[in-house]
Amino acid sequence: MSTYHIAVIAGDGIGREIMPAAVAALDAVAALSGFGVALEHFPWGSEHYLERGRMMPEDALDVLRPFDAIFFGAVGDPRIQDNVTLNGLLLPIRRGFDQYACVRPAVLYPGVRSPLVGRKGGDIDFVVVRENTEGEYAQIGGGLYPDTPQEVAMQTATFTRYGTERVIRFAFDLARRRSRKRLVTSVTKSNAQGYSMAFWDRVFTAVARDYPDIRTESLLVDAACMDLVRRPNDFDVMVASNLFGDILTDLSAAITGSLGLAPSANLNPARTAPSLFEPVHGSAPDIAGKGIANPLAAMLAGAMMLDFLGEKEAAGRVEQAVRGVLAEGTAVTPDLGGSGTTRSVTDAVLARIQRDAG
Ligand SMILES: NC(=O)c1ccc[n+]([C@@H]2O[C@H](COP(=O)([O-])OP(=O)(O)OC[C@H]3O[C@@H](n4cnc5c(N)ncnc54)[C@H](O)[C@@H]3O)[C@@H](O)[C@H]2O)c1
Repeated sequence: MSTYHIAVIAGDGIGREIMPAAVAALDAVAALSGFGVALEHFPWGSEHYLERGRMMPEDALDVLRPFDAIFFGAVGDPRIQDNVTLNGLLLPIRRGFDQYACVRPAVLYPGVRSPLVGRKGGDIDFVVVRENTEGEYAQIGGGLYPDTPQEVAMQTATFTRYGTERVIRFAFDLARRRSRKRLVTSVTKSNAQGYSMAFWDRVFTAVARDYPDIRTESLLVDAACMDLVRRPNDFDVMVASNLFGDILTDLSAAITGSLGLAPSANLNPARTAPSLFEPVHGSAPDIAGKGIANPLAAMLAGAMMLDFLGEKEAAGRVEQAVRGVLAEGTAVTPDLGGSGTTRSVTDAVLARIQRDAG
């Protein structure tokens, strides 16, 4: 029996509430599909920062490197600036482990109401591939004359041919694997950003030549936002820079019902280091501690992790159970209009996993 070694970082806020739920689903399907999961929990995050001045230990990447995957909750604490929490934990892992492809599916599940009029379950099913290691989040910049009227702030986006080409190629390969609409939509802003984004467009056109079986489309990010509302059913795979991908995926989570349903995989496709799987949402301080956080995004992120590890049957068990619970509509958290709790939704998914297994 193979056993996967998974590092679990629940992090902050609702991260600590949804991760036990997602881990319970993981354990349940592992037992049914006949493999082991050995979990090690790391208490890193904002409490760690407040106690020790660091979000995670200095040697954290060395500690994480031997694991098969990292399962992550959320970071963010109102007592600490967001750039400190993000740059102290998530971004160093994404960059340090070369997790260059951030894959975020957007699916409108049957039983879930989209805020878009007339869209029903099954109508929306696309994936956003976000560049995850450079671009606007490269942390290159500086400032002058702080707290004076002359204060200057500069931040430089960085686009390399290597980084741009590989993530676009990943998106084309994904469109082939999905084999649905066989369409890749590139999202930029090259009318205003004539260097970096026009460069991205050129690389996109060049890579597309290697994929004559895949249709292509290029949109400006403002138009893409409009089209995600007007015609979300037309998309298949979207590929965008770090910042644009980040923004588009909150929008895609909203049109498919809730951030509480949106999973995310930060992939090192070459598998030279562990990949990281997490819900798209953050630590949600507004609902943290109330026991009403939707655990389904984290569970679906767990399914993406199992799929990446090659455990497709177990991944399918989680997804099928989540679909079943949503379609049934009896255990639903408030973000989806219900009065359920993290606990009741978790129990419903766990029961469904057993029921589906016969
Ligand atoms: N990957 C991450 O860890 C990540 C991502 C985004 C934001 N953050 C951090 O999280 C903190 C809060 O940020 P925010 O409020 O902009 O974004 P958020 O995703 O935490 O919350 C946005 C809204 O969605 C709701 N929501 C989110 N997840 C939910 C869930 N599972 N169930 C029910 N409702 C849910 C919240 O209650 C809130 O109203 C900030 O510190 C931010 O930096 C972290």
